[in-house]
Amino acid sequence: MGFVVRFLPEGKAIEVEKPSTLLEIALHHGLIISFGCGVGQCGTDLVTIVEGMPHILPPTPSEQETLAHLRAGPDERLACVATATGDVTVDISPRLFPRGTGPEVVTTDH
Ligand code: FES
Repeated sequence: MGFVVRFLPEGKAIEVEKPSTLLEIALHHGLIISFGCGVGQCGTDLVTIVEGMPHILPPTPSEQETLAHLRAGPDERLACVATATGDVTVDISPRLFPRGTGPEVVTTDH
């Protein structure tokens, strides 16, 4: 029996028959997620799991290391290695900067 992965912000819902990575599911259905290495090391494809984190297999040590480097939140995973096994809602909106690495806001008193 399959499950449904819903991709935000479009809201496209995809029926999936077997455990698959979020990147595989997205690419097979015409959704664009920027990615690089495909093995959980570069951090290009950081996505937010809005619902259903228990339906994503736990991160491998390699993914954990990359998530830590990115200062990812507990709701964030790497689409290329995050494997969905049940209903999930994931936000694939592109990020301009990984969390904690954006430009600093500098204010000056005149
Ligand atoms: S594509 Fe490199 S971490 Fe997913």
